[in-house]
Amino acid sequence: MLARIPQTRALHWLGRQLFNRNDPAAFFDPLLETLNPMLVQGQTLARVEQVIQETSDTRTFTLKPAARWAGFQAGQHVNICVEIDGVQRTRTFSLSSSPELWAKQGLVTLTIKRLPGGLVTNWLHDNLSEGQVLGLGEAFGDFLLPEPPQPVLFIAGGSGITPVLSHLETMAAQDFRAPVTLLYFVRTQQDIIAAERLHALERRYSALTLRIIATDESDKPRYLKSQDLSTVPGLKARQVYLCGPKGLMDLANKQLHEHGIRKKDIHSTFFSTAAPALNADLANQVLGGKVQFGKSNLEASSEGDASLLEIAEASGLSPRHGCRMGICHQCSCRKTSGTVINRLTGKASGPGEESVQLCISIPHGPVTIEI
Ligand code: FES
Repeated sequence: MLARIPQTRALHWLGRQLFNRNDPAAFFDPLLETLNPMLVQGQTLARVEQVIQETSDTRTFTLKPAARWAGFQAGQHVNICVEIDGVQRTRTFSLSSSPELWAKQGLVTLTIKRLPGGLVTNWLHDNLSEGQVLGLGEAFGDFLLPEPPQPVLFIAGGSGITPVLSHLETMAAQDFRAPVTLLYFVRTQQDIIAAERLHALERRYSALTLRIIATDESDKPRYLKSQDLSTVPGLKARQVYLCGPKGLMDLANKQLHEHGIRKKDIHSTFFSTAAPALNADLANQVLGGKVQFGKSNLEASSEGDASLLEIAEASGLSPRHGCRMGICHQCSCRKTSGTVINRLTGKASGPGEESVQLCISIPHGPVTIEI
């Protein structure tokens, strides 16, 4: 009986701690993390199960997310969070596995290329190994397969194959009954990512036509040709999915347009999103201005098209962010005054209080931001 009194008190104390807090996870997470990192509630954690070297600069990381992770659709992205030198870093990557693998084995894969000067990609390659744990956000993005099935053309370049692998695995698993063609551009044969998986898909999924085109294996670079498109059967009836470097995507968009493919039938994912030129009117205006970081009590001046995120980082701040491309909304924060220009649309914001994405917002005169 005596032993039960402290136990009851302890439970009451825990109950009060829990219910007096707006965010119980903030209280319990450190405790749970000590017991088992996969139990943390504030963030879904994922354990690295396997690391596969795909090419000299690309690895596939197989992850086992904690069970509460909500899953994904083929073609979606996730934010991952790792701690590098004591600082939490978030980046956005496409999932390269199919939802079937998640449903059956509770596993997902990320296929990540080392980027020159890329802080996070290089860290992942140099440090992330089996048994380690990283933070995983919920999946997002609308680079999704057509419903109901329609003929599809994928044009991918380099590591832009990542979401396409997820699509193809899904199509094969669901027996997606419509013609599917993949034009995959790589610099050399050694740069083919997931070569075995692609060839295995080609063997077992009869709807798939696979063409791998090496661009740098002859004297003259071999880019996407109009003929590559005209030889795709029933091109005009296809939904086209683009993912790759900007040069390839620009060329593909131009040639698809010349072949009469409508804009609404072309789908691009963030890897290929090019920042459109600013509106002609705005391009002639002076960009930049004085930026007041309200909460940090800091002020900075900028000229030209530096984003609020770049200005904040240059001022020694570390705002939360992910993709740096206007996709993940991790960097959204409150602007309390001033006008910014959206780098993707070229449009100016209103002058008042609103939420803005730091990574794609360029000051247009004095701006105050709540970071
Ligand atoms: S960092 Fe992803 S939207 Fe800004």
